[in-house]
Amino acid sequence: MNRRQLIKHSALAVGAFAAARESFALEIFPSSKELIFRDNAAGPIKLSSNENPHGPSPLAKKAMYDAIDASNRYQWDINVTLREQIGKLTGHTKDHIILGAGSSELLGLVTLFASQKKGSALAAEPTFKLWMPAARKMGLPIQLVQATAAKENDLPAILAAIKPETRLVYLCNPNNPTGTVSPEAELENFIKKVPGDCIILLDEAYTDYYNSPSMAHLVNDFPNLVIAKTFSKVYGMAGARLGYVIAQPSMIQQLMQLQAWANSGPSYVSMQGGLAVMQDAQFIAFCKSENIKAKDVFYKGLQQLGIPYIKSYTSFVYFDAAVYKKDFAATLQAANIIGARSFEEKSTWLRLSIGTVAEMEKVVSALNS
Ligand SMILES: Cc1ncc(COP(=O)(O)O)c(C=O)c1O
Repeated sequence: MNRRQLIKHSALAVGAFAAARESFALEIFPSSKELIFRDNAAGPIKLSSNENPHGPSPLAKKAMYDAIDASNRYQWDINVTLREQIGKLTGHTKDHIILGAGSSELLGLVTLFASQKKGSALAAEPTFKLWMPAARKMGLPIQLVQATAAKENDLPAILAAIKPETRLVYLCNPNNPTGTVSPEAELENFIKKVPGDCIILLDEAYTDYYNSPSMAHLVNDFPNLVIAKTFSKVYGMAGARLGYVIAQPSMIQQLMQLQAWANSGPSYVSMQGGLAVMQDAQFIAFCKSENIKAKDVFYKGLQQLGIPYIKSYTSFVYFDAAVYKKDFAATLQAANIIGARSFEEKSTWLRLSIGTVAEMEKVVSALNS
């Protein structure tokens, strides 16, 4: 894709997204149902949404099948049990945790909470923006702070941009779409310096892949620190919709009051899957090591083509397709591989999710065809 086509493509995508979120999703991702046939060589390879190509885990699958029989009843206890189990994993109590139908539901809830007092929000550019249109509708204008030249979140610049009316700072670490991670000491320093009346919404959707530093242990020291986590990535349950937020109990209580009903989020089936996958250490280890192998295949392919990329601490890679002689996304699409996406205006940088080793080999061979 040349620069003009790329810009046109992303402008169209953004426009369509604003116009009709649902139909946009269907247009871009038409074929998820086919993707369960993983060994179907003719099926499309979907590398657009950073899903785990190996999930759900065998234990989660069994637990979810088994849970179907009891899904005619409202289930109360499981919400508490799952929060207790997550607490054991992260070093918190159930009162520090709220569950959602994916972490994106909770990103929305936190921004709703922040928007109750007039003000604005801050976030890095580029970053994960799916929650932003709803936040703006809730009356929270968002200022974006450009990443450094190395495309890392510019923490000092974000701190400098905080004003008295800044209600929320969103930080994604490791960042989507760039895959970069801020060092632990810098993150801690950042959290300390954000004023106490400004919520820090730290999105840790990808920390598990490379054991990137989580700031969850700081929650008890900072009432304004809110950490979002998801079962959609290394835990392989994106379609099951399960995520959670860790914060101080008083913050969790206030977030729960914004839910129509405390048990209205993830389904019983998903929560059983969540409980099970947390026990499936073998599956998680397998997914992490396969991600490294598959990412290496893609890195080598990019190197051979002379395409610069950023070393990623996630399940996707951000690269500059400017030097690629053909239309990068169209070349992949012709080989039934979807997902090379642009996230910055007037930019030739693209993001591609990491699939299986075999899928990434197909990507590389399609790019060389
Ligand atoms: C950084 C980030 N946060 C949140 C989400 C949403 O995840 P969930 O499926 O838990 O809503 C994603 C999904 O891609 C993401 O990349």
